[in-house]
Amino acid sequence: MKLINSISRMATLVKILRKEGKTIGFVPTMGYLHVGHMSLVKAAKKHTDVVVLSIFVNPLQFGPKEDFKKYPRDIKRDEALAGDAGVDIMFCPSVSEIYPEGYATYVNVENFTDKLCGISRPEHFKGVATVVAKLFNIVKPDVAYFGQKDVQQAIVIKKMARDLNMDIEIKAMPIIRESDGLAMSSRNIYLSEAERREALVLNRSLEKASALTVAGERDSGKIIKEMKELISQKPMVKIDYVSIVDTKDLKDISVISGEALVAIAAIVGSTRLIDNVIVKA
Ligand code: PAJ
Repeated sequence: MKLINSISRMATLVKILRKEGKTIGFVPTMGYLHVGHMSLVKAAKKHTDVVVLSIFVNPLQFGPKEDFKKYPRDIKRDEALAGDAGVDIMFCPSVSEIYPEGYATYVNVENFTDKLCGISRPEHFKGVATVVAKLFNIVKPDVAYFGQKDVQQAIVIKKMARDLNMDIEIKAMPIIRESDGLAMSSRNIYLSEAERREALVLNRSLEKASALTVAGERDSGKIIKEMKELISQKPMVKIDYVSIVDTKDLKDISVISGEALVAIAAIVGSTRLIDNVIVKA
């Protein structure tokens, strides 16, 4: 596996690969890799010739009071995991090269970023879309892989690629969970043992939503109420939102017919966690 830090070296390598007719699969991450990230690498390996994984903790997508400084970083550990998973190129640019002094260009995907997580993290998706657009321009992938865990992010990136005529296929892959159901996340290491136990209620509440839908409940309000009641039994879990929305435009749905996205965000202790499930009427 090649480890590349500079944008120009990455661009040169991409030029060579493209000349050789190789297809490039791309997995953008912020590192502190886990099995969820690796599932994206696995998918990329199956469908493309060369797999590029980027690690860049993007300051632009963190709010002023968020965890940019303390976000877990361990490049040595990530390098070993990525190598074992069969990543061909690990790209780790520096903040100063991605955002040099005087940097002034941003990508804002309207109508998607003011919903769900966008309400409590108003600048977040602008930061995500901007860095992903930049990484796409550097890595020039044929296919890019995102996790359904960050469902709103995957939808925003798909919309950006379509709106800006980016010739890149965007794939959203299933959520990978711990054996007890907790969605894997680099932020899970922030949780104390007690918080981690209580955090399981997020997935439990989503399971409840699925079960209610299977049993014939169509009223989103009733489902959300039951989910909130379940979550309120765990004092360390503070709900940011519990929403049932359209899977395409993320608009609230009051009566479920067809597919609906049940999405949840909560602060557990001081850690913000998100999770979701798609239910079908
Ligand atoms: P990060 O949180 O490191 O996640 C990188 C990719 O892994 C994202 O597409 C995310 O949805 C996916 N992922 C995380 N946990 C997962 C899980 N449990 N199952 C499946 N996929 C999972 O998301 C980001 O980084 C950043 O916002 C980024 C896109 C890199 C832009 O900075």
